[in-house]
Amino acid sequence: MKVAILGSGNVATHLSKVLIKAGHPVKQIWSRNHENAIDLALEIGANSIPDIGEIGKEIELIIVAIKDDAIAEVINKIPQNSQALIFHTSGTADLDLLSKRFENCGVLYPLQTFSKNSDIDFSIIPIFVEGSNSYSIEKVTNLANQISEKVIYADSKTRALLHISAVFACNFTNAFYTIAQEITDSVNLDFDLLRPLIQETADKAMLNQPKDVQTGPAKRNDLQIMQKHLKLLENEPQLKDLYQSISQYIVKMYSK
Ligand SMILES: NC(=O)c1ccc[n+]([C@@H]2O[C@H](COP(=O)([O-])OP(=O)(O)OC[C@H]3O[C@@H](n4cnc5c(N)ncnc54)[C@H](OP(=O)(O)O)[C@@H]3O)[C@@H](O)[C@H]2O)c1
Repeated sequence: MKVAILGSGNVATHLSKVLIKAGHPVKQIWSRNHENAIDLALEIGANSIPDIGEIGKEIELIIVAIKDDAIAEVINKIPQNSQALIFHTSGTADLDLLSKRFENCGVLYPLQTFSKNSDIDFSIIPIFVEGSNSYSIEKVTNLANQISEKVIYADSKTRALLHISAVFACNFTNAFYTIAQEITDSVNLDFDLLRPLIQETADKAMLNQPKDVQTGPAKRNDLQIMQKHLKLLENEPQLKDLYQSISQYIVKMYSK
C-alpha cells in the first residue's frame, strides 16, 4: 500500500521505517511543524507536504500518529473525497473519532514505548487492531501481521483500559525513576547505583506475578520507617502525597 503519515514524532518515525521494510512505501509526511516533516521525510526518502490537502490521490493508507488531543482537528482537514484507508495509532482515542467521518478506517495500536532514537524490534510488539467494517478489519489485521508476530483485536474500550495498564507499567514507572534520580542527585550520589535494583525489579516482574515479588516498607507494613520517610519528604509536599498514597495502596493490597 502507498502510505501517507500524519505526524513526525516517535511513533510516526518507527512506524514509517517498519512499513517501508515490510514493502509499503511511505510517500508523504505531514507534520504540524513543517520542518519536522521535512526531517523525517529526508530520513526515510519520502516527500514532505506542508498542507494535509496535498495528500496524493495515489495514497491508499493514511496513518495518523499525532498527539491524541489533536486527532479530531487534524482528520477534519483530510480531503473528504480521499479514497484512502485511515488508521490512527492511539491507545485511547475511540475508533468513532475516525468512523464518524470515514467509512473505511481502523486503529493500529502498538503496545510499546517508542522514542525516536531508540532502536526497536517491531516483530515482538503486540499490536491491537480495530476496524470500522470487515474490509477495514481485514486490512488493518493484514498490515499488523506483516510487521508483528502478535496481533490482537480489541474494541475501543478494551484498548483504553489496556492503555491505562501501560501507563502504570511504563509511564508512571519511568516517572518514578526520574524522582529516584532527583533524590540521589540531592545527596550527590550517582543514579547508576540504582541500576542493578531497577534491573532486578524488571527481571522479577518478567519471571513472576508482580504481586508475588513486592518488597519494601509498605509491603511489610513497617509503620515507623514510613513515618520517617514522610518526615524526610516534609519539604516536598507532592512527593510526600505520592509516597503516602502508594504506600497506603500497597498496605491495603497485602492486608487482604
Ligand atoms: N510514544 C509511544 O510510546 C506511543 C506508543 C503507542 C501509541 N502511541 C500513540 O501514537 C500517537 C503519537 O504519539 P508519539 O509518542 O509519536 O507523539 P510525539 O512523539 O510526542 O509526537 C507528537 C506528534 O503530534 C504532532 N502534534 C502535536 N500537537 C499537535 C497539534 N495541536 N496539531 C497537530 N499535530 C500535533 C507533533 O507535530 P510537530 O512535532 O510537528 O509539532 C508530532 O508529530 C499518539 O496517539 C500516541 O498515543 C504512542
